[in-house]
Amino acid sequence: MSEVFEGSFTQQESIPEAGIEAAVRVMRHGRLHRYNTVGDEVAEAAMLEQEFAALVGAKYCLAVASGGYAMATALRAIGVKPGGRVLSNAFTLAPVPGAIASLGAVPVFVGVTEDLTIDLDDLDAKGGQARVLLLSHMRGHICDMDALMAICDRHGIQVVEDCAHTMGAAWNGVPSGRHGVVGCYSCQTYKHVNAGEGGLLVTDDADVAARAVMLSGSYMLYERHLAAPPAEVFEELRYTTPNISGRMDNLRAAILRPQLAALETQCARWNARYKVLEDGVRGTPGLKVVERAEVERIVGSSFQFLLLDWDVAKLQAVIKRCAARGVELKWFGAPEPTAFTSKYDSWRYAASEAMPATDRVLAGIVDMRVPLTFSTDDCALIARIIRSEVSAVYQAA
Ligand SMILES: Cc1ncc(COP(=O)(O)O)c(C=O)c1O
Repeated sequence: MSEVFEGSFTQQESIPEAGIEAAVRVMRHGRLHRYNTVGDEVAEAAMLEQEFAALVGAKYCLAVASGGYAMATALRAIGVKPGGRVLSNAFTLAPVPGAIASLGAVPVFVGVTEDLTIDLDDLDAKGGQARVLLLSHMRGHICDMDALMAICDRHGIQVVEDCAHTMGAAWNGVPSGRHGVVGCYSCQTYKHVNAGEGGLLVTDDADVAARAVMLSGSYMLYERHLAAPPAEVFEELRYTTPNISGRMDNLRAAILRPQLAALETQCARWNARYKVLEDGVRGTPGLKVVERAEVERIVGSSFQFLLLDWDVAKLQAVIKRCAARGVELKWFGAPEPTAFTSKYDSWRYAASEAMPATDRVLAGIVDMRVPLTFSTDDCALIARIIRSEVSAVYQAA
């Protein structure tokens, strides 16, 4: 009898008790809107911002409605205009090009390497085409950030980081989101902290932070923030920055604060699971493990491997056979966008030239979620199933 995995790839852990209690307190007093405070009360949203800024060592932080909203707000706040071109990853998820398109700006896609990071040669080659890069640390893979920043500085490109999958991660000791001018994070259910929906934006630039606060809909109540610039920075901006409401509410902030406090522990738990998966599939014939750089502090909340240059029918057979044994794998090479997976040529609102080297990598990317409801034993079982099914299909004539 072959082994079968019975866990759920979409089941996250419950919200910590402290978060539930804080949420109930907010519901009891009823002041869910972040600017609805009494006396000198400090809103949960303002405290969350202060705590997250401290966690990543940023001067300013703004909590918003989603990761996608954080990215669009960052782009607006640094001055991207309709028709402006923004470089971004060909390998990412739909909200990234979507954030660019939401401003009427135009994505220019940059290729992906076998390390699943942005192709720095392609970035250098396209560097003259845009003044902004929306860099997605897709599935937690961080490129050589020192090399990337050198390329961007040489081309005069401002970098906004999409850290939806790298909250808690770092490159060379620098927290993810702290290399570029703005770092954007998601607090959506499948991310490293879970408020259902939500986003955070960090920056050291006072003007960018003030514009972001105004954009998010501060109703001129920006002095109720703890991690925003002083009132004088808003003097002029408040007349010229539109309100595009997308604030975070106190209920979500209350749920998130205890989760942030536990982030480091959670990241270690993810990494223990990731290591078991990585060790378990390493050496499988035909399967390439994605090696991580020594200076990269990862958060293994999802796991990828490559079946490079495989025949499509065989690759699909692996996905099907693993699914039959309870292991839900996603394939980034599928011709049609399915659920969370899509690729640059599915985003037809943003025309792109063909990228054969990128197509080759995308065609081989197999991806799975690693919820913390999985034990390390679960991960060992999943790895055994992947190993046996990949081997069986690979060895078949
Ligand atoms: C790579 C990436 N960036 C950004 C986002 C946007 O996050 P949100 O769903 O909070 O808008 C997601 C969400 O899935 C994502 O996967």
